[in-house]
Amino acid sequence: MTTETPSTPVVIDEPTVARDWVKRENRAGRRVALVPTMGALHEGHLALVRRGREVADSVVVSIFVNPTQFGPDEDLDRYPRTMDEDLRLLRREGAAAVFAPTASQMYRAGASATVSPPRVAEPLEGICRPDHFRGVCTVVLKLFQILPASVAIFGQKDYQQARVIADMIADFDLDISLDLLPTVRDPDGLALSSRNRYLAPADRQRALSLARALDAAESWTRRHGLDPTAIETEMRRVLGDGGVDAIDYATVVDPLTLLPLVPPAGQLGDSPHSAGGDQSAEPAGAVALIAAHVAGTRLIDNRRLP
Ligand code: PAF
Repeated sequence: MTTETPSTPVVIDEPTVARDWVKRENRAGRRVALVPTMGALHEGHLALVRRGREVADSVVVSIFVNPTQFGPDEDLDRYPRTMDEDLRLLRREGAAAVFAPTASQMYRAGASATVSPPRVAEPLEGICRPDHFRGVCTVVLKLFQILPASVAIFGQKDYQQARVIADMIADFDLDISLDLLPTVRDPDGLALSSRNRYLAPADRQRALSLARALDAAESWTRRHGLDPTAIETEMRRVLGDGGVDAIDYATVVDPLTLLPLVPPAGQLGDSPHSAGGDQSAEPAGAVALIAAHVAGTRLIDNRRLP
């Protein structure tokens, strides 16, 4: 039996060198998958890398704590940076390359162009974090340019982010396909997040109420049908009982547009219809999304409802 020892991924910080690396892979007939991250990697990220290895020949992981997507009062300075451990994990998972630029390598002095995000960026996070998706779209478009991979792999924990990126790809005819993976959770249900590192054990218990509220939303829907107002009340009750400090939103919306569901008259609780969006392309059902604060940490989670 031969045991394959994964080799250390090549670490690149210069955008031009990174682009050449991807082009060389493509010229050699190797399909490249891109996994964009801000580092502080956990099992959720590693699942994306594993998926990349399934759907492509080489995986490049970007690690960049993007300053333009953080608001002035957010956690840019304290966001966990764990590069040595990240590289160890990526070596274990067989990533071929890591793109880890500094802020000045990513944004040239005086850079002023930004991406105006698609409409799906406007509700929810768009209200709570006004410039967040402008920063995300700008950096993700830059990453797609610097690392011209065939497929980009994201997690569905950032549900709205995934919708925003999907629409940006469609609106700009970008030559990259999107692969979205389900949220990875701890055995007790807590959605994995780099920000979970901020939580002391007692806070972590309170953070579990997000997953519990989504469980409640799902079982409420199975028992009574899709009544957004009632489900939102139920989620807020569970979050309150669980001891979260503040709720930014706990809502049930259309899974494509993220706008409120508008049931046709007389069908409340029967079959959901939604406002806006391309009705022909619309997946059935709804999505429940939560953003809440626990001990100064802002957590998000979501669940597709039947
Ligand atoms: O999801 C993230 O970690 C970030 O928003 C991303 C997509 C890497 C852009 O900075």
